[in-house]
Amino acid sequence: MSAPNKSFDPKQVSALSSESVDEMVVEAIAALSSASDLESLKVARLTHFGDRSSISLANREIGALPPAAKAEVGKRIGEAKARIKDALESREAELTQIRDNEVLLSEKVDVSVPVDRLKRGARHPLTTLMERLCDVFIAMGYEIAEGPELELEWANFDALNFPKDHPARLMQDTFFVESPDSGVVLRTHTSPIQVRAMLERELPIYVVAPGRVFRTDELDATHTPVFHQIEGLAVDKGLSMADLRGTLNHLAHVMFGPQIDIRWRPSFFPFTEPSAEVDLKCFVCLGDSSAVDCRACGGEGWIEWGGCGMVNPKVLRAVGIDADVYSGFAFGMGIERTLMFRSGVSDMREMVEGDIRFTGAFGLEA
Ligand code: DAH
Repeated sequence: MSAPNKSFDPKQVSALSSESVDEMVVEAIAALSSASDLESLKVARLTHFGDRSSISLANREIGALPPAAKAEVGKRIGEAKARIKDALESREAELTQIRDNEVLLSEKVDVSVPVDRLKRGARHPLTTLMERLCDVFIAMGYEIAEGPELELEWANFDALNFPKDHPARLMQDTFFVESPDSGVVLRTHTSPIQVRAMLERELPIYVVAPGRVFRTDELDATHTPVFHQIEGLAVDKGLSMADLRGTLNHLAHVMFGPQIDIRWRPSFFPFTEPSAEVDLKCFVCLGDSSAVDCRACGGEGWIEWGGCGMVNPKVLRAVGIDADVYSGFAFGMGIERTLMFRSGVSDMREMVEGDIRFTGAFGLEA
């Protein structure tokens, strides 16, 4: 600050003249109002209204003026500062409004848009396949039957005519949860549900029973210790193998298409007589005998699907049904095998690993 100057003439101190103060105001207002955002406004404020701005420096000179000039110049500078301050505040208000609008727009959230917070899983294809199989039978008038996974050895083996020394009863094949003489096993197939259905239901009986079964197999591409079967049973007057054949033909055509026929090979099961293995025509080569190395059937032309037969009269008698009046047919297939065939899954392990990339590929089937 300069020392007091008694012989001061304000007009001679150019920085404090009315013209130069006006000029400062005009410059400051121009700079402030041309600031395009709050950042550049801050720079303009420092330049034109900060401690080192022309107007602040001029303000400091007032103290050095003779008393006669102080009032006039003080008023001039005071008014100038007020105008600059007004301009600053109004531009600041405008720019703040603009910034707020931009923020509101850029951070806009449409609360009406549905969001998936959790990746949605899919139902397991084994489940949907079992339901489809059941639907085919429900359409033919069958009912769904059930039985326990922890089953009586009697229902799993004895009532189905398995001899006492049958190898399937041994611990190498069957999971015993209690001691082997407890009479309780983890069911090795869904066929004991036949026994329960015949004990519990009125004749005639038309049932299918999907379910989980257990065998002491190692997990590999074609085996798993826990798998699924679907069992079918019909007991009525006058049923023959022709009815069984027609039923399985229909099932194969509905599930795989009209070109996929079935064939029977003679076989043996203690609970059916006669018994047959059911094969499906290969879906890749369609049984063409020239396709010697078909990737699906290895040139066989047919793929094993399940077992079937006429219910052995000994089984009917074991549950108190008159085998001279009633006859029955039964069949059972592996669901995993069916899924492999139907959807081209080549490794059973994919079905049990629970990776949602596997189930998701089958879509969100209801
Ligand atoms: N229970 C048999 C198995 O697990 C499959 C089977 C064969 C079921 C013949 C049947 C049948 O109902 O009639 O290998």
